[in-house]
Amino acid sequence: MRRLFVAGNWKMNLLQTSATGLAAQLAAAISAEIPAVEVAVCPPFPYLAAVGAALAGSGVSLGAQNASQEKPGAFTGEVAVEMLADIGCRWVILGHSERRQFYGETDELVSRKALAALAGGLDVILCVGESLSQRQAGQTETVLDAQLLGSLRGLTDAALRRVVIAYEPVWAIGTGVTATTEQAESAQKHLRNWLEKHYNPSVAQAMRILYGGSVKAQNAAALLAQPNVDGALVGGASLKIEDFLPIVQAAQMAKK
Ligand code: 13P
Repeated sequence: MRRLFVAGNWKMNLLQTSATGLAAQLAAAISAEIPAVEVAVCPPFPYLAAVGAALAGSGVSLGAQNASQEKPGAFTGEVAVEMLADIGCRWVILGHSERRQFYGETDELVSRKALAALAGGLDVILCVGESLSQRQAGQTETVLDAQLLGSLRGLTDAALRRVVIAYEPVWAIGTGVTATTEQAESAQKHLRNWLEKHYNPSVAQAMRILYGGSVKAQNAAALLAQPNVDGALVGGASLKIEDFLPIVQAAQMAKK
């Protein structure tokens, strides 16, 4: 039985008042006693501490959107895992396609970040996903295999128990085009099969695999009903309480 997980990736959005206001609304709506679903939000770095304070005592945990692979030191502009753990982050998103696409992050770098994050006490939301041209060329599964192989390099079975995978097809992110339930299930089943082949099968069975890419209240229930969709990584629809809460509620209702 995998506990469903709904995480909001706020990306580079909101300002202090709107970020803490949204966090306060989430804290009021999502109590610490919702065992069926785990909920997290990942605000921009400057608001992590304030959002964390607003979420205190609620059922919503805090995550960052990126972290350095380096130990604290002379790395101008970077944020260390230790700092994120220190201000109460539980999660870090790594390997998001926007970081791969716009900031040149490779699987090799993502794996170094994952190792650093896990060693520093953060759990990891690892993103993978194919582009439209890769899907059209029939390369979806080979792309996913290569991303898993590269990004998880060096992680033991025990480390992998602290990782959640997010399947985010690049063509579905921020486009309003959601993967069909069949496309999401097929890719996510493939990811689990890959994990089964390369790791202890019990780790693969326990792994939560989220879907991300234009998740909304209207499509969440159908996606979450798929056997290998264990939650959602939500971008745009995580920025307003009236959009995000119904997704959390859909997860609460999903029978798994
Ligand atoms: P959207 O939900 O805005 O498509 O973004 C998905 C995403 O990239 C979450 O990480």
